[in-house]
Amino acid sequence: MDRLRLIKKTLLWLLILFELYFFKVAQGKFNVLYIMTDDLRPSLGCYSDPLVKSPNIDQLAAKSNVFLNAYAQQALCGPSRTSLLTSRRPDTTKLYDNSDSYWRIHAGNYTTLPQYFKSHGYTTLSVGKIFHPGIVSNHTDDYPYSWSVPPYHPPSFHYERRKVCKGPDGKLHENLLCAVNVTEMPLGTLPDIENTEEAIRLLRLMKKSESPFFLAVGYYKPHIPFRIPQEFVELYPLDEMILPPDPDVPQHLPSVAYNPWTDIREREDVKALNISFPYGPIPKDFQLQIRQHYFASVSYVDAQVGKLLNALGDLGFGGNTIVVFTSDHGWSLGEHGEWAKYSTFDVATRVPLVVYVPGLTSASQGSSGKPFPFVDVFQEPSKQLIPGHIVKSVVELVDLFPTISHLAGLHAPKECPQPSNHVRLCTEGESRARTFYRPETHVSEEEMAFSQCPRPADTPQLNSDQPRFKDVRVLGYSIRSSQYRYTLWVGFQPDNFYANMSNIHAGELYLLVEDPDQDHNLFGLGGYEGLSHSLGQQRSVVSQWAEILQHHITCLNEHGPRKQDLHTCLKHSPGV
Ligand SMILES: *[C@@H]1O[C@H](CO)[C@@H](O)[C@H](O)[C@H]1NC(C)=O
Ligand SMILES: *[C@@H]1O[C@H](CO)[C@@H](O)[C@H](O)[C@H]1NC(C)=O
Ligand SMILES: *[C@@H]1O[C@H](CO)[C@@H](O)[C@H](O)[C@H]1NC(C)=O
Ligand SMILES: *[C@@H]1O[C@H](CO)[C@@H](O)[C@H](O)[C@H]1NC(C)=O
Repeated sequence: MDRLRLIKKTLLWLLILFELYFFKVAQGKFNVLYIMTDDLRPSLGCYSDPLVKSPNIDQLAAKSNVFLNAYAQQALCGPSRTSLLTSRRPDTTKLYDNSDSYWRIHAGNYTTLPQYFKSHGYTTLSVGKIFHPGIVSNHTDDYPYSWSVPPYHPPSFHYERRKVCKGPDGKLHENLLCAVNVTEMPLGTLPDIENTEEAIRLLRLMKKSESPFFLAVGYYKPHIPFRIPQEFVELYPLDEMILPPDPDVPQHLPSVAYNPWTDIREREDVKALNISFPYGPIPKDFQLQIRQHYFASVSYVDAQVGKLLNALGDLGFGGNTIVVFTSDHGWSLGEHGEWAKYSTFDVATRVPLVVYVPGLTSASQGSSGKPFPFVDVFQEPSKQLIPGHIVKSVVELVDLFPTISHLAGLHAPKECPQPSNHVRLCTEGESRARTFYRPETHVSEEEMAFSQCPRPADTPQLNSDQPRFKDVRVLGYSIRSSQYRYTLWVGFQPDNFYANMSNIHAGELYLLVEDPDQDHNLFGLGGYEGLSHSLGQQRSVVSQWAEILQHHITCLNEHGPRKQDLHTCLKHSPGV
């Protein structure tokens, strides 16, 4: 009897301690440092890239949750950023291009992630590229709704598309490859260097502030042009560069799925190569140089992140600041004969997602703790760091809003009803906060990421990469599970936003166990019959999950691409 009472009492105490701990985590007002990169796929040491040198991001990852399978909702800056920041999909923000509309006017008065923090007493600050500039954020980066003070834009960005790149002829050009001597640049600096300096200045100001902060720092690289300090290129000798394993356009890729990388062709150095439209290819030696400059740009961004995180620690914020590191989407580096973004391939939609929560993803740091001292990539030999907590489940950028809110101790917004245009605060993603409290025991095959991709026509056109909204005629809807990618390209009418799921122009199906690079499209030419046919042929490969896949496809065809409807359909299915 006594022993039972003792056990009961101990359990009660444990429960109280447990609650106190989580109460503290939930109520302690964490700051948020939200670091966004532009066009960065997970070519990073902490994502097992064998070539890329990213010691500072790796060091962050070693104390963080590292989401191995995170996906953007569209591989284009404007739509992806608006989607991430409002936690709604392109179909709900009604933004599929970079220049068409401002969601508050044309879709709904949706609350953004920084706005939500601002409404809870945070000082919210934007440095560099967070919202896509121009019409899509009302020419103000959504100030004053999202930010406490007007967003900062680095003055040297003005020269980003000027003739400032020294070519082999010794003259200045507007080139794709643009390794520069920084002291010779107009203003003697570069935009991301200015971003880091401004962000550190703001952190110092926040030291004196009473309120917690949400500081968003948006780096411009590795977005083209590769205007970067020349020393970073030397980290990647050209004779060590290799092409991807699948440098050719796949045989059964539908022409609507192909993106002709028009923005690359416009640069002077690429134009001079007389590459044929739409399929190219780019000469091999130039492909290797693009890869070299992309990787060098990643190391340049890594150095900026390192300086910023070093300052965070110096100022005593290392123990009470959540750090998020991600990107708006990926970038093809010659895989499938493609470059740039603008597609539904993983190389274009998959992003790095690293989230550090002090005391949760790493031991609590006191106010004097410096969790991330700067690592100089030129001085220190690269060492293999093990990422903190790996999360393999498929997650989406729309999940960030509820996840970060929850981790910071605010309530995660509720799931959106359908339609949700009248609802200011809700999410079309879901909170992934539980992955921070409990280790992942298995990877759910039902977790899926959804992406969209607009096209003006079934064959590659000059505007196929970025059609204006009024020119969109085909919309690609893509599902990415841990097992497959399935994409339907369907007819679309911009005047009434109508995607006709029974007007199928083309399809793609890749079974990732067999074909992780997505080179063998199994969606037959004959629509569904072709699909069943290909599935039939692949029975042995897919036997374990063929039924689930078939069922997903049936649900998709019956309910359209909305995730919630799909989930309902999946739940109510017999036999799954
Ligand atoms: C939009 O919402 C913001 C607060 O989130 C509010 O201040 C503003 O008045 C709203 N605008 C309209 C047109 O309803
Ligand atoms: C967008 O900007 C214009 C011009 O500055 C301003 O008049 C308008 O109120 C802004 N729209 C919203 C929804 O705030
Ligand atoms: C960069 O340019 C400055 C000014 O022209 C020059 O003094 C310096 O030597 C250059 N640095 C390199 C590494 O070329
Ligand atoms: C590209 O075409 C131009 C004009 O036809 C020609 O002068 C130039 O030599 C060509 N360049 C290459 C690399 O073939």
